[in-house]
Amino acid sequence: MKQFLYLLLGCCLAWSAPTAKAQTASSTSKAKNTAFKPGELWYDTEGNLINAHGGGVLLVGNTYYWYGEKRAQHQEEGVNVYSSKDLYNWKYEGVALTPATDAQSDIAAGCLMERPKVIYNQKTGKYVMWFHLELKGQSYKAARAGVAVADKPTGPFRYVSSFRPNGNMSRDMGLFVDDDGAAYHIYSSRENYDLRLARLSADYLTPTTQDSLLFAKHREAPAVFKQGGKYYLLTSGCTGWAPNEASLHVADNLFGPWQLLGDPMTGPNAKLTYGGQSTYVLPVPGKKDAYIFMADRWNPKDLKDSRYLWLPVQFKAGQPTIDWLEQWDLGHFSKQL
Ligand code: DGJ
Repeated sequence: MKQFLYLLLGCCLAWSAPTAKAQTASSTSKAKNTAFKPGELWYDTEGNLINAHGGGVLLVGNTYYWYGEKRAQHQEEGVNVYSSKDLYNWKYEGVALTPATDAQSDIAAGCLMERPKVIYNQKTGKYVMWFHLELKGQSYKAARAGVAVADKPTGPFRYVSSFRPNGNMSRDMGLFVDDDGAAYHIYSSRENYDLRLARLSADYLTPTTQDSLLFAKHREAPAVFKQGGKYYLLTSGCTGWAPNEASLHVADNLFGPWQLLGDPMTGPNAKLTYGGQSTYVLPVPGKKDAYIFMADRWNPKDLKDSRYLWLPVQFKAGQPTIDWLEQWDLGHFSKQL
């Protein structure tokens, strides 16, 4: 009898301990976020880690959509999309663009779809995604841009085509829509030595031949934003997944000339972009001169565990600077001088 009671007690303890632990973990991760914590684990509203790397954000009405690479430990698994009303709390909306099961497709499972960006085309009413595409089994040799479209921001996106814009290699990339609705593809070309800009067709699905070299400084991870009538361009160096020094250029015209302003990061670890690499600069609506620098702190041993660095861009003496902050919220922008 005594033995039976011990056995029963043992079973109860063994059964209840993991449950209590699981509850603690999920209630912590499901707690509402009220601040950005750069480099820390960031959970979606279901308590799962956000998996949206090399991404960008699109605002539709009063909802933000965050698109990014869905990564397994190494493998690329398509483009994920999340939605949010406040930029701190993100609901998982699913895979916006799924790799094809057809092995002949350009986006056959096993391909690489990196740095996806989505823009909305007013004329066609379509959401248009561009991404850096590498064909299955060819490492980074193909150097193409891929395009997909959808009727809704959450997709599903339908693959349209892939190509080298005007015959140029195209790896890291970003998109930028100007105030007049014209859209541009900015991309690292010629083995990443050149940074090029191409104006897109009216439907945003193809590059036009208005496609120029901006500069040949061996840069990647381009992110363009506009403030006070000037265009700014953030880039990284080319060191694979390892962090390096960022640089900021400014221009009056998107096609240049682009003038180097230097490294906008300040303080400790600034020379390594705080361990991150630029992916996008998000203008925050309703706040003057409010922009969020978005970067990836890559973990090449486990790419899905790469962390996100979101930091405020601050205009000091009219010049954009990006300071490190352990934690911050959107109220930070009201405090700007
Ligand atoms: C750096 C790029 O910015 C990333 O998007 C990715 O392509 C890695 N290189 C691969 O090494």
